Amino acid sequence: MLADRRILLIICGGIAAFKALDVIRRLREAGATVVPVLTRAGEEFVTPLSVSALAAQTVYRDLFDLTDEAEMGHIELSRAADLVVVAPATADLMAKMANGLANDLASTLLMATDKRVLIAPAMNVRMWQHPAMQRNLAALRGDGVLLVGPEDGTMACGEFGPGRMADVPDIVAALAAALSDGALAGRHVLVTSGPTHEPIDPVRYIANRSSGAQGAAIAAALRELGARVSFVTGPARVPPPEGVEVIRVETAREMLEAVLAALPADAAVFAAAVADWRVANATDRKMKKTEGAGAPTLDFAENPDILKTVSQLDAGRPGLVVGFAAETHDVATNATAKRARKGCDWIVANDVSPETGIMGGEENKVSIVSAEGVEDWPRLSKVETARRLAARIAEAISG
Ligand code: C5P
Repeated sequence: MLADRRILLIICGGIAAFKALDVIRRLREAGATVVPVLTRAGEEFVTPLSVSALAAQTVYRDLFDLTDEAEMGHIELSRAADLVVVAPATADLMAKMANGLANDLASTLLMATDKRVLIAPAMNVRMWQHPAMQRNLAALRGDGVLLVGPEDGTMACGEFGPGRMADVPDIVAALAAALSDGALAGRHVLVTSGPTHEPIDPVRYIANRSSGAQGAAIAAALRELGARVSFVTGPARVPPPEGVEVIRVETAREMLEAVLAALPADAAVFAAAVADWRVANATDRKMKKTEGAGAPTLDFAENPDILKTVSQLDAGRPGLVVGFAAETHDVATNATAKRARKGCDWIVANDVSPETGIMGGEENKVSIVSAEGVEDWPRLSKVETARRLAARIAEAISG
């Protein structure tokens, strides 16, 4: 994906600028050419010499540098690239982009380019949350600018929250995905995500702790590859990604209905943590605590298995059905058995035993169980796991 590609990398002024050096190194290792542009503020954080030495290229710095204009005008510079990347992207540059300003080399290149633009924002949490920033962000998204991060984390300024630039491997993965643009164009992929809520009475329910993070990341990664995504989600903590069709449900039975209504699909990914049982004697009126009557008894009924139902459809089964398995021991053996039991094509299995720290964490370490056997992936962020899975799905359904 990256070999022989030409990346125009704009480095703005921010503490995270040092990470851009590592981005250059990794891109070059992957066979890409990096043409660096350093803003005036960027020069305060990394030196032109280190940038050009790592990139083995001239570093472009000034709109009115005549030598550069003679060698390559700014219009050409912005178009000779396969992709334009801004890392770190500051609040200032994003405001310029959102408003179409072109008063230095970086902003002019971004106005003049006809290529996709990927930005990795990095700023203080208050700046990120400021209404002006959020307005600009919405405008940039509307313009089709791709984003990676920011992440939650402790920042150089000591505050905690969203604003920390995405990690270098995530930036490189986002870049690779942006370059593989269109691998899923014209394809429809269904994704289930989040927990389900099973009512006890109109105000009480049974739920689980699924955040919906992995499902949302998978939907976003499929969308990045150009797929039309139907995102059937239970009440999740993590919001659904931009650019997908969101179908909100509460119960397992509603989820099954929504999934069947969203078919046909080229592929379906079942990342939801569906409740295995519902309360069979749920009441329409709030259960009352009656003095001396004791605690009520709940009866349970089995919920439909959505993954199994769709995997075993005679007509309208998606070409590729992917299920998940969270295991605490004998991961490969259990996941292989689950694949056979459900009738799906792949199982994405992860070890959620407490010592892995995966449950509720930022990272994941999965194995892909398919007809070919078991493939162990390295420990990656959930976003990068999602990108790899999306790329693998693209390969499988277009191959
Ligand atoms: O059987 P188990 O719950 O371990 O299987 C997990 C996989 O099955 C996940 O992909 C999950 O989304 C899916 N599933 C489902 N409907 C259920 C239970 C699980 O789609 N009722």
